Amino acid sequence: MQSPHDEVIPILDFGAQTSQLIARRVREAGAFSLLLSPDTPLDKIRELNPKGLVLSGGPSSVYEDGAPTCDPGVLDLGVPVLGICYGMQLGSRMLGARIERARHREFGRASLHIESTTDIFGAIPQNTTVWMSHGDQVEALDDAGLETIASTASCPHAAVRSTDPARRFFGVQFHPEVTHTPHGVEILQNFVYKVCGCTGSWRMADYAQTASARVREQIGGSHVICGLSGGVDSSVAAALIQKAVPGQITCVFVDTGMLRKNERELVETTFRDHFRVDLRVVDAEAEFLGDLAGVTDPQEKRRLIGHRFVEVFKQQAEAIATEGKHARFLAQGTLYPDVIESGQSAAGKSAGIKLHHNVGGLPEELGFELVEPLRDLFKDEVRKLGEVLGLPDQIIWRHPFPGPGLAVRVLGDITKPKLDLLRDCDEILLEEIVSAELYRKTSQVFAVLLPVQSVGVMGDGRTYESVVAIRAVETQDFMTADWARIPYDVLATISNRIINEVRGVNRVVYDISSKPPATIEWE
Ligand code: XMP
Repeated sequence: MQSPHDEVIPILDFGAQTSQLIARRVREAGAFSLLLSPDTPLDKIRELNPKGLVLSGGPSSVYEDGAPTCDPGVLDLGVPVLGICYGMQLGSRMLGARIERARHREFGRASLHIESTTDIFGAIPQNTTVWMSHGDQVEALDDAGLETIASTASCPHAAVRSTDPARRFFGVQFHPEVTHTPHGVEILQNFVYKVCGCTGSWRMADYAQTASARVREQIGGSHVICGLSGGVDSSVAAALIQKAVPGQITCVFVDTGMLRKNERELVETTFRDHFRVDLRVVDAEAEFLGDLAGVTDPQEKRRLIGHRFVEVFKQQAEAIATEGKHARFLAQGTLYPDVIESGQSAAGKSAGIKLHHNVGGLPEELGFELVEPLRDLFKDEVRKLGEVLGLPDQIIWRHPFPGPGLAVRVLGDITKPKLDLLRDCDEILLEEIVSAELYRKTSQVFAVLLPVQSVGVMGDGRTYESVVAIRAVETQDFMTADWARIPYDVLATISNRIINEVRGVNRVVYDISSKPPATIEWE
């Protein structure tokens, strides 16, 4: 296992909802972090040359049969270890403490009294609020060589540390990684800087160099083909590869006929002008719309689109091969959460939740090896990398756009006139969202053309026209989302403009469903 950085604090992931969040917080503090499976062998952990180690929380009880565990040798690696919740209980138990079901479970905010404001609690107020979520706790320290450094009313050992200064094990029953623990970030920073001795050198500019070097090493003198969607992930991946191995990448942007207004032009100008990359724009509108004619079932639409993408890529791979560019690699903008969700991460805890699908099925069908230079990064880090690489704001801060494009936003069967109508509505919507300064405050905003007509009155006449729904959501990770509370006057302007300016629409509705139970897209 190669270390992507020289200041690494890995996390043994025991299945907590917040494990990714711990990794983010450690990275924000300036050290690199990644999730590992608890059964990662000690020598693999040593290969990373870690500065410290975190044992995450998890849903199990340490005393139950089959509860996840790790090699007790992690406590003797010679680096500080921070156990959080289950991780605290596991580490403490390995050292000899007794863990039991708590008489009073603690869920939510709790008042923590700190007895020793040094080490991880350096400069933290002696009485502070923390977020608890546990049914078990450390009941007695026995001969574990631990001392209590903080407590709450119902949790006498809410934080512990080893009395042997050489061991440097710390345990906290609460969750410093969540925002409900107001001084949580400082506690994690204390661990990273004061306890592990990191200097905070994890910087995106350095990472860009490291990632470039890794890309160069992987690709050597071969050629890469990169499907460019115009979204931030594939754009950053393409820009990074072009910088790492100039001239060895061919980007393919497929105009499916189901893109938003000016999308193709934006991608063309950005990549041709800024990066002088070999960009092939394939106009496949006729093929895509031909496949989809008369198809109303959402799954069938997605299947047909996926197949057509494969066809287009096959043709492009053959075309560039005739120019002597034999692409051995396919670049994808896969991110760290995608890796985790598809169960491919070193942690492998949440296998099977969602299969990552950048361009469904492509690698196997085409026999490419994958290049995924962003697979260590979170979305906000990709944006930072995009800034370091000089991508324009329009690309870096674009809301995501699904691979199947407007096909999943024109409900029911798809025709070019319907797509054109939706493009016009979408353009007005985004203009108004930008002018109300809501674009950066929302995560995704779009219009949906519903397969219904409704009665209206315009001038003195009756109309019977289409209904357009507006969807605006706020989310961190797109796995759950809430509908955005767009001010009424902004909604009023959007509705007015769409009805006045787009012929064929006489009614606009606003989608007030969260995810779950709804999804973000309507199909
Ligand atoms: P849902 O509708 O599943 O969407 O709540 C979550 C996020 O994923 C995007 N999305 C897709 N992206 N191919 C993609 O590349 C797809 O087939 C696809 N379906 C949904 C959606 O826009 C949202 O950001």
